[in-house]
Amino acid sequence: MKFATKAIHAGVEPDPSTGAVMTPIFQTSTYVQEAPGKHKGFEYARTQNPTRSALEKNLAALENGCDAICFGSGLAAQDAVIKLFASGDEILAVNDLYGGSYRQMVRVWGQWGLKSRFIDMYNPENLEREIDPDTKLIWVETPTNPMLNIVDIAAVCRIAQKHGIMVCVDNTFASPYLQNPLDLGADIVLHSATKYIGGHSDVVHGCLIVKDGAARYKNSPPACAARMRERRSCSQLPGVSPKSVKSILARL
Ligand SMILES: Cc1ncc(COP(=O)(O)O)c(C=O)c1O
Repeated sequence: MKFATKAIHAGVEPDPSTGAVMTPIFQTSTYVQEAPGKHKGFEYARTQNPTRSALEKNLAALENGCDAICFGSGLAAQDAVIKLFASGDEILAVNDLYGGSYRQMVRVWGQWGLKSRFIDMYNPENLEREIDPDTKLIWVETPTNPMLNIVDIAAVCRIAQKHGIMVCVDNTFASPYLQNPLDLGADIVLHSATKYIGGHSDVVHGCLIVKDGAARYKNSPPACAARMRERRSCSQLPGVSPKSVKSILARL
């Protein structure tokens, strides 16, 4: 499927209960169950919502991923990625990073013992020199905000794979129309959908898309998706309202 077709159709099925062509806004907290655990895939809105699922499938298709998880903001999505790691682990991040992303890594997660270092990744050889045994995640933002610096995603991913390190790419500024980091070897893509994906400056939203395939890591990308979805359910739901999700879906 070409990009425009995916943007319009991926994940958007006529509603089975009414035949509505456009995904309705499902404004419900709970779903009926025929018997305990016997339901149509939806139990409780903190974990599943059909409007949100449609957007997640659409975004997964646009980034050529196997799964996507929507969040109340880009930083909530980043928070779920970082929570895959533990105190003592290190994030190596590009040195010209969106200020909020930097502050979350340093001020919030630093307090819990996660280490972050911000390095020049514009020459990928620098990355190879900087990796140390605690490095568990490489964080790329390209183009960067605010300087629009460019990192060679494929070169970074080749180095990361050699060392068994996960790569997350913040693709907010390029959008999936111009760049698909999963195709270049990244494991997770992040969007602040508040920007180009939302497109109209009226919704704050974030999402993660994960890659299908090889369980190269202890946390294979699909397993990561499950863990990140669990983290969203535990703490990060506010803002992922079916209404804001629907307004993004309608524009893609
Ligand atoms: C590149 C980039 N990543 C992440 C974020 C954070 O996203 P949000 O404001 O949706 O939390 C921003 C916000 O400006 C951004 O520009």
